[in-house]
Amino acid sequence: VIFDNSVLGSIAVANEIATLIREKQKTNSICVLGLATGSSPIKVYEELIRLHKEENLSFKNVVTFNLDEYFPMQHDDIQSYHYFMKEHLFKYIDILPENVHIPTGNCSLEESSVLCAQYEEKIKSMGGLDFQLLGIGRTAHIGFNEPGSHLNSTTRMVTLDHLTRSDAASSFLGMENVPKKAVTMGISTVLEAKRIVLLAWGQNKAEVVQETIEGDVTSKKPASYLQNHPNVTFVLDQEAASLL
Ligand code: GLP
Repeated sequence: VIFDNSVLGSIAVANEIATLIREKQKTNSICVLGLATGSSPIKVYEELIRLHKEENLSFKNVVTFNLDEYFPMQHDDIQSYHYFMKEHLFKYIDILPENVHIPTGNCSLEESSVLCAQYEEKIKSMGGLDFQLLGIGRTAHIGFNEPGSHLNSTTRMVTLDHLTRSDAASSFLGMENVPKKAVTMGISTVLEAKRIVLLAWGQNKAEVVQETIEGDVTSKKPASYLQNHPNVTFVLDQEAASLL
């Protein structure tokens, strides 16, 4: 779906999420959301906050699982995805703290593999993801599933691609400060979501959007795996869609 601009696209996506949350509330069910970081979802979160403040949207029945986190990374570090989620969404809404899940980068390598398996189990124990929000990196990564990621991959430690680290360099004040590793939900974790919406805005994403939608399904472009999901929508602005 192509919108004139990212604001209109973000409002439409926030409305879809709000509708899902409200539908689940009618049957006293939990709503399990997979959430993303990066600049792409920021306006979606702003609109969800507005809906909470002005239109009575409650998040008390919402359980969230974030896609990824840098490794190593302290939770209160301003570059962490823990900090990002708190500052861009969680501190403004009525979600219960125990319902928020974000992979941790604040542990040893050995602990991480146990925690990754537990993360995967926790998602399953909640009945799986009802809705997964995604951005896309210029390597066609989703979460931090870089080129080479296997279709069957689950939550795990990964090594970041050079391009991904260089795209993150400005927020870390230099490439040398960008962690070399991250913890991410796997391709299989993402593809098991009942509904997936990928956001891409701006000319910078036009090439990877074109490759992902029109190219072959290949581990070299992990987002291309989405072509085989039964309920996925790419929400684009005019610039991101300009090479389609
Ligand atoms: C990071 C995140 C991804 C995100 C990507 C694109 O690599 N791990 O989940 O999709 O950045 O970020 P942006 O939305 O800022 O372009």
